[in-house]
Amino acid sequence: MTKVGDALHRAFFTLVSHLPAAGSRRLLGGYFDWWHRRPDPWHYTTDRYERDRHSATLRRLPRRDYRRILDVGCSEGTFTDLLAASFPEAETIGVDISSHAVRAAAARRASKARFLHLDIRHQAPEGLFDLAICSEMLYYVGDAAMLRQVSRRLRELLAPGGLLALAHPWPEARRLHRHFTADAGLEALGEHVVLDRSRPYAIALYQRRPFEQGATVGSGFVPGVADPLAGYS
Ligand SMILES: C[S@@+](CC[C@H](N)C(=O)[O-])C[C@H]1O[C@@H](n2cnc3c(N)ncnc32)[C@H](O)[C@@H]1O
Repeated sequence: MTKVGDALHRAFFTLVSHLPAAGSRRLLGGYFDWWHRRPDPWHYTTDRYERDRHSATLRRLPRRDYRRILDVGCSEGTFTDLLAASFPEAETIGVDISSHAVRAAAARRASKARFLHLDIRHQAPEGLFDLAICSEMLYYVGDAAMLRQVSRRLRELLAPGGLLALAHPWPEARRLHRHFTADAGLEALGEHVVLDRSRPYAIALYQRRPFEQGATVGSGFVPGVADPLAGYS
């Protein structure tokens, strides 16, 4: 997309975020159902860049024995399935605002991941997660207030010590991720920028601070990989 195209695209989603919740959800859901009218709209299963991006994101995730993993804005679940395969002991859940996307994700039956239809701006899955991923999604959320709301929601979905990974185009990631960096309940562990020539992107990692003094941090590293900051700058 051109710079003007990008600006118009972001302005459209800001406008949508100003509508009342139900109308905004219907409009955004309809928009992404339209995108998902044909299979794999962003070519995640075939495009070299997208496949490399998914592998790079996966490699950046600390190896822990996660119990519950959440993939926010999962589309047809290509990355969710990779997560489920990489952490087979975990319960992995993908959520998306498009009912077409979650139906297609479930129909793929490519892993034991489960898929739920919801708008993360206003809804949340049940329970707490040890790891949440939000990749190529935040620029659809809307204005700064809505980004702060989503930051709060994702933080509240994490168990104490749980990790949140964000992956978005660079340098726009600065605008999107700063609300998470500013969230007092999250500790920024680091950011890794992949300087891909066609479309650079940043992968940022956060950890939920303990709910209260003395709460346990972390759900246990796999022996040998004890440093959550490994590879981040
Ligand atoms: C570009 S795709 C990214 C897919 C995947 N996360 C990845 O990086 O490969 C963005 C997805 O986010 C979903 N989405 C956008 N806004 C959402 C919201 N408020 N709640 C849940 N999903 C949303 C869209 O339906 C779409 O499937």
